[in-house]
Amino acid sequence: MDFQNMLYTIQDGIAVVTFNRPKVLNALNNLTVEELSVIAADLEKNEDVKGVIITGAGEKAFVAGADINELSAMNALEGKAFARKGQKVYTALENLPKPVLAAVNGYALGGGCELAMACHIRIAAENAVFGQPEVNLGIIPGYGGTQRLPRLIGKGPALEIILSGKMISAEEALRLGLVNKVVPADQLMAEAGNLLKTILSRGPLAVRYALDAVHHGLNMSIEEAMDYEATLFGLVCATEDMKEGTKAFLEKRGANFQGK
Ligand code: COA
Repeated sequence: MDFQNMLYTIQDGIAVVTFNRPKVLNALNNLTVEELSVIAADLEKNEDVKGVIITGAGEKAFVAGADINELSAMNALEGKAFARKGQKVYTALENLPKPVLAAVNGYALGGGCELAMACHIRIAAENAVFGQPEVNLGIIPGYGGTQRLPRLIGKGPALEIILSGKMISAEEALRLGLVNKVVPADQLMAEAGNLLKTILSRGPLAVRYALDAVHHGLNMSIEEAMDYEATLFGLVCATEDMKEGTKAFLEKRGANFQGK
């Protein structure tokens, strides 16, 4: 697959998706979102892909938001269509039954912060900067930010970020629970790769169902979510991986999971 604004590689089960417009801090124009949507479809169906790392090209930015040149000319209908299109592709990433890590290597602003939040886990470089600066432009977040940020860090802190438009450091993002870990920039990809490899060494179906239980359960009532968890627990009990994992423990050896 050839892309103009994206890099897409797959090696040893790990897909690395890189936003590649460093001259404009990887700002998201229409073509970039279209290319991301093609990649998201491949991430889902490509059996060579077991896990995903999303990052930005260059040393300055993860993604510095939607392309303000394109935004500036939008009318109401175009604005709504623009938001729905971005929401759809981010939700496709969030719904992937494979772990998706954001390796945030610089500015993650607006649609960039929203992209990181659509990922399952976020690792940030020390120089990462987060924010939802849309109000500075007279707009609001439109790629899920008003919904994912309060779900991730709580309503008060989310409203402070969204209403003030202020940028926050990686350390502050860590304190708020917006990111899982902060590491030196030169260790970012290695750290994300190691975490993903650890996850991929576990029972593949267990990882998949655990992701499903957390992700879908969060949108249910606690009673429904508990029942959903119990159903998925029952399903994993029917897998060969479960038999192998428990047997390996009892035999004091490493498990050899087959994803079956
Ligand atoms: N859309 C379009 N172009 C963007 C962009 C965006 N979201 N973010 C950065 N760029 C461009 C700049 O216009 C500049 O282009 P130029 O070299 O042709 O002038 C280039 O990327 C480098 O950015 P610059 O502003 O010079 O870098 P900086 O280090 O001084 O500042 C930021 C970095 C991130 C603070 C600043 O670029 C910024 O505020 N960007 C907009 C962020 C934003 O509001 N995002 C949400 C959009 S909804």
